[in-house]
Amino acid sequence: MTQPNRTPFVGGNWKMNTTASEAITLIDAVQSGLKGDLVEVAVYPPFVYLREIGSRCAESDILLGAQDCWHEPSGAFTGEISTTMLKDCGVTSVLTGHSERRHVIGESDELVNLKTKAAIGAGLVAVLCVGETLEQRENGQTDAVNESQIKAGLAGVGKDELGKVVIAYEPVWAIGTGKTATPDDAQDAHTKIRALVAEMYDQQAGEAMRIIYGGSMKPGNAGELMAMPDIDGGLIGGASLTAEDFLAIIDAGATQKV
Ligand code: 13P
Repeated sequence: MTQPNRTPFVGGNWKMNTTASEAITLIDAVQSGLKGDLVEVAVYPPFVYLREIGSRCAESDILLGAQDCWHEPSGAFTGEISTTMLKDCGVTSVLTGHSERRHVIGESDELVNLKTKAAIGAGLVAVLCVGETLEQRENGQTDAVNESQIKAGLAGVGKDELGKVVIAYEPVWAIGTGKTATPDDAQDAHTKIRALVAEMYDQQAGEAMRIIYGGSMKPGNAGELMAMPDIDGGLIGGASLTAEDFLAIIDAGATQKV
């Protein structure tokens, strides 16, 4: 059973998907199907649709998130988006260190840390994503990878700022592959991540940290994953593009955590 102060969090990371009209249809369907407020729900649309989706989110409890940010407030950073710009669009949380940014775009731990601190400094929630590749898993490096990504990602983040942090454990081999970590494997990683946060800060910080799972979470496996005591929600890719599936995952979160 989750701690009372760990409200389940389910985020829909739309990645580089949807046209403007598909995005509007999707958010309208999610909004109209949403029941109750036991789960904190956020969507992460492509940047160019943030304002449009944000104006619809403003009519509901759905939080608007961004898939990335740049850490400098303004200036000559062609193609980048600052946290001030995101806040202007109504954004309240930002993904930092998503595996596609780390492994496809090539972001370093240092850059992820700068972005995480910039997001928190701007008053946004940073959803810090960590997780091992298949090769790292097969080499028994899962815990070491999570540890080094979390230590680097949260370097310089104070205990009083942790309320603005959610950690997303997303094993890279499970993202978009249809392969999901078993509930026991995911729970094991989450327990160790919670213990690490407790070691880095203190016991209370570890207990309060929301740690969500991502990687092929679907309506069929969301319930058993989120039933695990240290899994406080999910970061959903593919299944968040279908309102029915995303809503079913949100329902599963609400059912598991009452
Ligand atoms: P999938 O749910 O498509 O595996 O994506 C997970 C993810 O990367 C969410 O950020």
